[in-house]
Amino acid sequence: MTIAFSGRRCPWTTKTKTQTRLDMADTLTITDNRTGRKYEIPIQDGTIRAIDLRQIKVNPEEFGMMTYDPAFTNTAACRSRITYIDGDHGVLMYRGYPIEQLAEHSDFLETAYLILFGELPTTGQLEQWSGDITRHTMLHENIKKFLEGFRYDAHPMGMFLSAVGALSTFYPDAKNIFDQSSRRLQTIRLIAKVPSLAAYAFRHTIGRPYVLPDNDLSFSGNFLNMLFKMTEPRYQPHPVLERALDVLFILHADHEQNCSTHAMRGIVYGPLHGGANEAVLKMLTEIGSIEHVPAFIKRVKGGEGRLMGFGHRVYKSYDPRATIIKRIADLVFEKTGRNPLLNIALELERIALSDDYFISRKLYPNVDFYSGLIYQAMGFPVSMFPVLFAIPRTAGWIAQWEEMLTDPEQKIARPRQIYVGPARRDYISRDRRR
Ligand code: CMC
Repeated sequence: MTIAFSGRRCPWTTKTKTQTRLDMADTLTITDNRTGRKYEIPIQDGTIRAIDLRQIKVNPEEFGMMTYDPAFTNTAACRSRITYIDGDHGVLMYRGYPIEQLAEHSDFLETAYLILFGELPTTGQLEQWSGDITRHTMLHENIKKFLEGFRYDAHPMGMFLSAVGALSTFYPDAKNIFDQSSRRLQTIRLIAKVPSLAAYAFRHTIGRPYVLPDNDLSFSGNFLNMLFKMTEPRYQPHPVLERALDVLFILHADHEQNCSTHAMRGIVYGPLHGGANEAVLKMLTEIGSIEHVPAFIKRVKGGEGRLMGFGHRVYKSYDPRATIIKRIADLVFEKTGRNPLLNIALELERIALSDDYFISRKLYPNVDFYSGLIYQAMGFPVSMFPVLFAIPRTAGWIAQWEEMLTDPEQKIARPRQIYVGPARRDYISRDRRR
């Protein structure tokens, strides 16, 4: 295969402003030497879309060309407005502000605001933000008890991450991820509580009592207080150490698509993955009876919600697991009695499989269309469904991790990004911000 650029040079390297631009004169012509066919592929922001390569095939029934990119060293996985790195020139900017200026003039809470919301806060916004964070630093007493259960020599990171996971049980409202006000509340809770959790974990390892947050101290000053306070009535952080810690926090606040951030972006929880069987049961219960199935299908086709348990990123015909599970359902129901929701499920499947909307989009039942019905018939509450998914998938996760670890072609997964955020700009002092 030979590849040639045509049109102008890559817009990303030539432009001074960092906004997105599509210029159809920018294309890449690919000749497939296996077939002699030529493909013209648009270039945007100095990238081609990997999916545009899928049309390249020798035989029509082939899957199509993919890129192989271990550790994503040359794959931009997202557009991002947050952080810009120019590795060759040692440049790091958050939202366009050079890291040197932020380290010199800003503090961690202000920088966190900038990273999260895109602009430096006005005085009023910063007061509100700092106040919100300060008010949420306390931890539920049960978290203390939970941490006390760790061995005396437990690694602080193990305690820290278990405790962060445990927060989800204290704040189940965090599941409302499409509710902007809920997302904002969880953001405040997390940023406020992670230093408290970290300090608790540290104090546990050295066998000292946990220290309550002090709302009169700065973010970093309070963290030092929770870490190091002894018997003094009021802990006073040393200003040099307080500032040093704050600057370290500024430097670590973001680093575009590094591997931990990449893992964070890949997290899916809920009805689209892992929780689909719960969503199927909810859907079947809401439909209520067979007569309501056509109206429900009509609503889905009209764009009101999805037919849960249908469709898959990879399977574009019947999910083989769904075929097996349907047989198992019959056997289970013989023993437990038929789940009354089954008739609705069968009717949904029958109608959907003969409807052009679902056929044309290659939407077929997936493994979760029937699994929830079986688990429910066996006596599991829906809250156990994701746990039942995690038990077997642990084998797969470990196998995949082990394979990655021992594959010499693999290394830290760090995709690239297309930066579409602000161009370089200078830090503005608080009193001059609008
Ligand atoms: N009901 C109605 N329309 C659907 C559905 C569905 N279940 N799934 C996809 N579509 C439509 C979608 O609206 C889009 O239509 P259009 O082209 O007109 O915009 C088209 O089909 C392609 O959908 P997509 O969202 O681009 O496809 P995807 O590969 O990103 O999504 C999926 C895959 C599994 C998230 C999706 O099919 C879905 O939401 N299914 C319902 C949830 C579900 O059953 N999840 C379990 C997946 S298997 C077990 C697991 O991994 O946990």
